[in-house]
Amino acid sequence: MAGDADKILIFDTTLRDGEQSPGVSLNMEEKLQIGRQLEKLGVDVLEAGFPVASPGDFEGVQRLARELRGVQVAALARAVEKDIDTAWEAVRDGENPRIHIFIATSDIHLKHKLRMNREEVLERAAAAVRHAARYTGNVEFSAEDATRSDLDFLCRVFEAVIEAGATTVNFPDTVGYAVPWDFARMIRRVAEHTPNIHKAVLSVHCHNDLGLATANVLSAVANGARQVECTVNGIGERAGNTAMEEVVMAIRTRKDLLPFSLGIDTRHILATSRMVSHLTGMVVQPNKAIVGANAFAHESGIHQDGVLKERTTYEIMDPRDIGLTGGAIVLGKHSGRHALKAKLEEMGYRLAEDDLDRVFARFKNLADRKKDVFDEDLEALVAEVVLRI
Ligand code: KIV
Ligand code: ZN
Repeated sequence: MAGDADKILIFDTTLRDGEQSPGVSLNMEEKLQIGRQLEKLGVDVLEAGFPVASPGDFEGVQRLARELRGVQVAALARAVEKDIDTAWEAVRDGENPRIHIFIATSDIHLKHKLRMNREEVLERAAAAVRHAARYTGNVEFSAEDATRSDLDFLCRVFEAVIEAGATTVNFPDTVGYAVPWDFARMIRRVAEHTPNIHKAVLSVHCHNDLGLATANVLSAVANGARQVECTVNGIGERAGNTAMEEVVMAIRTRKDLLPFSLGIDTRHILATSRMVSHLTGMVVQPNKAIVGANAFAHESGIHQDGVLKERTTYEIMDPRDIGLTGGAIVLGKHSGRHALKAKLEEMGYRLAEDDLDRVFARFKNLADRKKDVFDEDLEALVAEVVLRI
């Protein structure tokens, strides 16, 4: 397949599919802030919107294409000339701009939504790509609802659009229906039965309706996909898209099984997650992998003790790699004397052993009444026991 065989391209669609999350609507300034942050994070492609959808979308895509450098800005279009012309108008001033065309290929969509037969869809897809290829050599084609499509037909569509000029072909699990081992089989089948697939980058785009989006993406990557479409915090239609931070950190952490390179500077992950959450109003659940408030917090006394002795006992990633600094210890009723001592030292208190014993006894009483014991509580305990205030 085209491109660097060992690199996984990150195609971020936070500003397009992510903005399709119910209740989310970003203004121009907010889109620019997120766009600049994604550029800093190092995404390879940034899908900025669907320009034909509204004047606001058009303007947002155009501003981002004009301003961002070092990232390919993409605009979405249905397989119709008006959409493609509008998408091109919006991105044309960008650096290596991309037109992203989609049409559904599953019989369910053909029958009930498009009211077209397979041959008509195949011709429409190829004609749309041919039209876009007159504007740019950077054309992506997506077969909407690919995971519920007939695979022989899908291979014919991919072959036709590659011949028409598509440089990326995307395999979306639009409704989050796939399971990892079957998705892997589908990716292999497409890679093996589309004769000119080597001329394009094979991409995947998974939704999270069954909570399997990240697992599906990783199985696709292990079987030949080289572009991953995802959003920050996994926001998007319904249950959302694949969470970028999960894919990136899984590839980074499991290099033994996924020996690929990425262009992402992971130290900006947490700041990006917080910015997207703040500007979209979509709260990140505390136990969310990688970026949740508890993702690196250790409550159990045994775990706290282990981490204090050697971080890797209970941490598979270094929190600093995602930009998290500061203590990872959350004190509560399960915390031991060792964790309390470390926390107090972090706060600047080096207590004599007998003072520590007394603070620890009071701390245990307090923790029985209160779920988490915060820095302010510890300050008060130290003041009471040591300073006798
Ligand atoms: O989920 C989907 O199929 C999409 C396409 C437009 C790629 O978002
Ligand atoms: Zn989608």
